[in-house]
Amino acid sequence: MQPRQFRRYLLTALFALVIAAATGSLLRFGLGWGMPAWAANYTAIRHAHSHLMYFGWATLALMALIWHFLSGYTGRALPPSVHWQMGITSVLALLSFPAFWVNGYGLTQIGSASLPLGAMIASLNGLTWFHFAWLYWQESRHLARRPLPVQLWDWAILLLLLSSGGALGLVGLVVTGSQSLFLQQTFLHLFLDLFAVGWFTMALLGLLWAWMSTPTPGTGEGWGGGSAARLPILPLALAIAPTFFLGISPALVAPPLFWVAALANGLAGLLLFWHAGALLRYWTILPWLARFGVGMLTVHALMALVVLWPGVWKWGAGTQLRVYFLHNLLLGWLSSLLLALIVDQLGLGKTRGSGWLGWAWIGGVGLLLLTLLGLGLLQFVPISALVLLRAAAWSSLVPVAVAIGVWLLSLRSDQAASSTRLD
Ligand code: HEM
Repeated sequence: MQPRQFRRYLLTALFALVIAAATGSLLRFGLGWGMPAWAANYTAIRHAHSHLMYFGWATLALMALIWHFLSGYTGRALPPSVHWQMGITSVLALLSFPAFWVNGYGLTQIGSASLPLGAMIASLNGLTWFHFAWLYWQESRHLARRPLPVQLWDWAILLLLLSSGGALGLVGLVVTGSQSLFLQQTFLHLFLDLFAVGWFTMALLGLLWAWMSTPTPGTGEGWGGGSAARLPILPLALAIAPTFFLGISPALVAPPLFWVAALANGLAGLLLFWHAGALLRYWTILPWLARFGVGMLTVHALMALVVLWPGVWKWGAGTQLRVYFLHNLLLGWLSSLLLALIVDQLGLGKTRGSGWLGWAWIGGVGLLLLTLLGLGLLQFVPISALVLLRAAAWSSLVPVAVAIGVWLLSLRSDQAASSTRLD
């Protein structure tokens, strides 16, 4: 991929982060003070927020970074079809926002037709993942040896395809008219949870190891080197695969199924600790933002072990802990690491203000996650829910401001790069 195109896709992903984070903040203020009249459909707006975050921010940024590092491994320029795939993925990902904003997964009247706009755009987005997987296979098969990051991406993409089977299953239920709540929940969580834990986490670990094994300028030596070669990949993918059953309501999950999922989840937690432990060797060269992200990954892994304690899962399902759990993974680990990678790859690390933005992110996201944890553990915390909800709302403004700051810095560096080329 041309450096210019690579920058453009990352800029689009950052733009999606700005809009989706601002929408998340709107929802947080809505929970603290009530939603404004112009944004009354809370559920639809929550769908607009989560889908733009998934498709426009995380998936687009992960794909752009994977293409970038993969062409470094193959030593080949990426074909124009990759540019088409990324362009179409960008447009469809951005369209998910207006499509969900109006009625979420409900029907929207357009002229004489009633259309499920959200579901339609989500399905089209799903098709682009198959396109991406096919092109990825075409490009990566030229590798004589598949290094650790590529193996992690292989499994990440397989889990992405497996998770989209959940979306197909949901369509199948509609077609067959099945009323099974268990199947509906199974397909829903196969799609949502495997997408986040499987695709996001494994793809990001691959990027992190690719980043660490990039030769240090001047020395020609890779940071990751041989020590990273023995890390668990297949066991991690297999352990993650059944964990989505834990997202289903406890009333629908039989005890043997729970134990299979919980033990696999615990194993996945231990294997993630293994990766995080191996990263300690490179701790001093990791920027603080990336260290924060890895720290949140270990919190996620720790929670996987806590769920093994009898009764914790059932009790947790009756609290607000799910929102904390989701955002620890998606905001704390995924988004912090992606931002650190983008800042580094776009060469923004040395620009004035980027260090401050990193610290502001750590402070703001750290505080937001603490308030969400407090809301999840409300029965043990001597602070009222309203105070916590309002503290969460105010702290959510910080990641929004940082997202805007990084986007503006990237825009400026893109313009500077364009004018240098013109000179
Ligand atoms: C600026 C940071 C963020 C804020 C302020 C925020 C805010 C919110 C709020 C208020 C909710 C609804 C919670 C509820 O109804 O109790 C929510 C749900 C959700 N958010 Fe975020 N969020 C942020 C970042 C992210 C990121 C980075 C992702 C993904 C990459 C994400 C994905 C989700 C998902 C999947 C849901 C659940 C949607 C559902 O259950 O329908 N959020 N978020």
